[in-house]
Amino acid sequence: MEQYDRRPARQVTVPLVRRDSIGASHHVLTFEYDTPLEAQAGQFVMVRGTNWGQSPFLPRPMSLLHGGKRPSILVKVVGEGTRRLANAEPGDLFSVLAPLGRPWSPCSSHRVPILVAGGVGVCPLLFLARTLKQQGIRPVALYGGRSSGDLVLYEELQAESDLRLATEDGSAGVKGKVTALLDEALMEADGRATVYTCGPRAMMASVVAAARKANVPCEVSLETVMACGYGVCLGCAVPRFDGGYVYACSEGACIDGRVIDWKK
Ligand SMILES: Cc1cc2nc3c(=O)[nH]c(=O)nc-3n(C[C@H](O)[C@H](O)[C@H](O)COP(=O)(O)OP(=O)(O)OC[C@H]3O[C@@H](n4cnc5c(N)ncnc54)[C@H](O)[C@@H]3O)c2cc1C
Ligand code: FES
Repeated sequence: MEQYDRRPARQVTVPLVRRDSIGASHHVLTFEYDTPLEAQAGQFVMVRGTNWGQSPFLPRPMSLLHGGKRPSILVKVVGEGTRRLANAEPGDLFSVLAPLGRPWSPCSSHRVPILVAGGVGVCPLLFLARTLKQQGIRPVALYGGRSSGDLVLYEELQAESDLRLATEDGSAGVKGKVTALLDEALMEADGRATVYTCGPRAMMASVVAAARKANVPCEVSLETVMACGYGVCLGCAVPRFDGGYVYACSEGACIDGRVIDWKK
């Protein structure tokens, strides 16, 4: 596995300074740090409101949209923790442990980065697209969801990439799954693609299979359930194809997709 510049994670208590809601289900939360959070694309935070009491007890993992003095996350409401995040108001205090996890591997200038996002899997890929832009690289981005309402932050992604959309109900982009766009993008890249993907497990399994068929590298971001986020609880084990497990928080979240047993 490629080495990376691992900055130690810091546990801080920071205020929320903005909550930008995108409909009822999606919310961008921005926190204010005293000293900038030095995070790399693909890294995540463990976040918990200081006023949450006993429930939910554990912090929630969220990918970073960017680091800096005012790091942001995008939250989709699925349960109690994300509902509490979505209802937070500016001034509310949060305990944040960051930066965590292995970031995306760098993409050399003679490769063609293809970013494949499903739903809120867009977060670590938008951070990656912004990082690539700073290096003068404009990636191809393929973004899919059930309907147009799932394609949050697509305008931000469009600003950084050659963006193509797919929705299962046809309300935006081509009708069908995002993976339907991948074969064409891989063909255009003519063997020089490096694929990065984050989204539902079945989508990532298809993306890894397509990249394998095209004989190009493919990294995935593993968004399994996590309790600690830094390799202590062993609750984030994901089966390896060659037996045993990888721990998504410490060996991922970003990892070579070929390492994972996608059938289990
Ligand atoms: C590294 C990482 C990065 C993530 N980044 C984001 C992000 O940028 N934005 C975002 O909205 N979410 C992200 N998630 C998922 C997010 O952490 C969960 O949705 C959240 O913890 C759910 O908490 P809850 O209390 O609202 O729901 P819970 O009450 O804990 O669960 C509600 C339902 O969601 C399911 N669920 C919970 N966690 C997950 C999960 N990780 N994967 C699949 N199903 C789950 C449960 O099984 C249950 O059915 C990320 C997860 C990881 C591990
Ligand atoms: S979440 Fe605890 S070891 Fe990975």
